[in-house]
Amino acid sequence: MTALTGKVAIVTGAARGIGQGIAWALASAGAAVVVADQAEGTATVAQIQAQGGQGFWVRADVACEAEVAALVAAAVGTYGRLDIVVNNAGVVAVQTVEESSVEDWDRVMAVNVRSIFLTTRQALPHLRAVGGGAVLNIASVSSFVAQQGTPAYCASKGAVLMLTKALALDYGRQRIRFNCLCPGITDTPMLRDHLRHAEDPAAQLARRLERVPAGELLLPADLGRAAVFLCSDEAQGITGTSLVVDGGYTACAEFAV
Ligand SMILES: NC(=O)c1ccc[n+]([C@@H]2O[C@H](COP(=O)([O-])OP(=O)(O)OC[C@H]3O[C@@H](n4cnc5c(N)ncnc54)[C@H](O)[C@@H]3O)[C@@H](O)[C@H]2O)c1
Repeated sequence: MTALTGKVAIVTGAARGIGQGIAWALASAGAAVVVADQAEGTATVAQIQAQGGQGFWVRADVACEAEVAALVAAAVGTYGRLDIVVNNAGVVAVQTVEESSVEDWDRVMAVNVRSIFLTTRQALPHLRAVGGGAVLNIASVSSFVAQQGTPAYCASKGAVLMLTKALALDYGRQRIRFNCLCPGITDTPMLRDHLRHAEDPAAQLARRLERVPAGELLLPADLGRAAVFLCSDEAQGITGTSLVVDGGYTACAEFAV
């Protein structure tokens, strides 16, 4: 018996990066995992199955209500229950407000924030049906401190934090817990894409890591372990809050090695 034996989880944006690390960690802890992504998620599922776990991939755009409804229906239709939702899918736009169109702004907000509204509305009846559950929203260090050149992203991650608190109040009595996991600089395709905007990506990464007390890139598995805890019954009593996993980044105003 492991921490999540018998539980069923949806992880959005689980085809790669942090979502993939979380999907693998939840599956290793015993959950059946529905890998939700607009990109192909078969590699994530293959690894889950290779480890003896259960899961399948659903193609879904988390910003689209009909696709989110179909995703939740597929999870419950296959496994008969839903216990955990990890809202991880996210996008970053490296654009100042003057460089952004209204459509650019709206897309970041739709994928990063509206998606949580949509998945939560669809999942709630099923979480209530099993007597409670856990919703884990992947926010960011950008929920607390801003990054240059990413105003829509920073605004969206601030919104994720407050939406999580508001939901925790509304559903606490129903034993449905809402928390945020806030990653620091994590080695994923999103980070590598972001760095490509710099003249010298390697130098830019080294500069960013100079401000991290732990001095290293985080890995998706680091977030996976934290996600297992927050989604498990070990975290009963923890709701409406955030766990920052950032190697000390947000503790730091200045840091000289
Ligand atoms: N990498 C970091 O340093 C970092 C730091 C802080 C927070 N985060 C957050 O962690 C989460 C995951 O980031 P990552 O670095 O793994 O990103 P990533 O770009 O490497 O992976 C994101 C995944 O989400 C999927 N996705 C994007 N839009 C989607 C949509 N509309 N519907 C369904 N799936 C969609 C992508 O296809 C991809 O598989 C994001 O919410 C991100 O903001 C990342």
